[in-house]
Amino acid sequence: MREVPVRSIVLEYDSASELGKDEQELIRRAAESARLAYAPYSGFRVGAAVLLNNGQIIAGNNQENAAYPSGNCAERIALFYANSLYPGSAPQVLAITAINSEGEKYDHPVYPCGACRQVILESEIRFSVVHRLIFAGRGKIQVVNSVKDILPLFFDRNLLLSGK
Ligand code: THU
Repeated sequence: MREVPVRSIVLEYDSASELGKDEQELIRRAAESARLAYAPYSGFRVGAAVLLNNGQIIAGNNQENAAYPSGNCAERIALFYANSLYPGSAPQVLAITAINSEGEKYDHPVYPCGACRQVILESEIRFSVVHRLIFAGRGKIQVVNSVKDILPLFFDRNLLLSGK
């Protein structure tokens, strides 16, 4: 038996003003979209905004359903919508935030669920480019430069094809 360390790097900021103007705008668009979420069951409103390499920003929010699994997360909605509008434009940066019932960001950042991480991984592979991910809380902002930093030991097409 051996213990193998798995390393990831997370960048932490105390305020959005430490980020560039484009990324501040992306966080603003994610928060704006969170306000439009349909989350009557959880009350947890999430927004995600994707900056594409054509300069477009596409935002989305979570959409819930009385039959819970039929809903979808903000990240997947934003990314799928971006891909459906601009299938040739690679996502570069994805900002994610969540707001409370007063419309304020939560203090702590929100992270994508496992299914969303897998979808973001597929996008990195599809476009052969890493996606910078910004998790924006009110009191703290965390950034990773690839989804692999929050999805170690991932399943991708290489594993699928290696059995053939
Ligand atoms: N949710 C997201 O939209 N993104 C996340 O990163 C975590 C969770 C949504 C799904 C559901 O509508 C609500 O938040 C509570 O889980």
